[in-house]
Amino acid sequence: MIIEALTWLTTPAPDWARKGGYLKELIAVQARHRRCRAHWAPHLDNSREAIQNAVQRCLQRRQAVVYGSGILLDIPLTGLAEAFERVTLVDVAHLRSTRRAAQRFKNVRLVETDIAGVSNGILLGVAKGADTLPRPTPPVIDDTPSIDLIVSANLLTQLPLTPCHLLKQHLDLSEDDLNTYARYIMQVHLDHLASFDAMKCLIAETAIQHIDEQGQIVHERDPLNGLVLASPDRTWEWTVAPHGEVSQSYAVRNIVSASTTMPHQRP
Ligand SMILES: C[S@@+](CC[C@H](N)C(=O)[O-])C[C@H]1O[C@@H](n2cnc3c(N)ncnc32)[C@H](O)[C@@H]1O
Repeated sequence: MIIEALTWLTTPAPDWARKGGYLKELIAVQARHRRCRAHWAPHLDNSREAIQNAVQRCLQRRQAVVYGSGILLDIPLTGLAEAFERVTLVDVAHLRSTRRAAQRFKNVRLVETDIAGVSNGILLGVAKGADTLPRPTPPVIDDTPSIDLIVSANLLTQLPLTPCHLLKQHLDLSEDDLNTYARYIMQVHLDHLASFDAMKCLIAETAIQHIDEQGQIVHERDPLNGLVLASPDRTWEWTVAPHGEVSQSYAVRNIVSASTTMPHQRP
């Protein structure tokens, strides 16, 4: 807890990322990874491999953009930096370990921005009495025409989580309303990816399962709220929380899919 608090205090981050709780969530990933390292390893290997496969398929290698670069657990940074003229890592903030890793390469830059584009609308609007939900607004990346690869790394289903959590604190919305808004945020992200004339690599969860001690699925939900993704190149299981991490009676397992789509195709 003390390490996490110090990290929160010393990490440079935009105001909305601190006030909205985004920075706290980013730091929590690091702590969760420390506890669940062995269970996460196959998922992280698979994610890195999916990104490397997408790199191999790029005919031109000017700029690679990674959305949801986080703490670089699932990002093959060396491979990207060696293959591309420029690599842009995008997340709400970058912890010291990420900044150090990026500094090893002259061609890696860090961008802190809200990829969903709703945080300020919630914090400065809804939280102050506005009753209209902000429209998701994707970021504008410098030098967009040079982007030959765009990666969305285990980010899609995370995008609506903090916004919906914030909205619940300020508005009396039904679960259906929140699910519709969450789907809207994810759809805008998919449309944004599709708008790039670049190779797209999308890694995202398609199911969240609770697994009992006998290995049976006792609960399953769709984190995409009905959105359908392009057919995946690969899917795999990720034990996000082994027994005891979030519950004594079940483990949490995500089904993850990775798809690579060519320039002009929709992810
Ligand atoms: C499950 S983690 C992905 C793991 C990450 N690829 C890594 O290797 O550490 C989801 C990431 O999405 C980021 N994220 C969530 N909402 C975001 C937003 N609105 N804008 C930018 N990044 C966001 C989080 O900060 C976190 O780093």
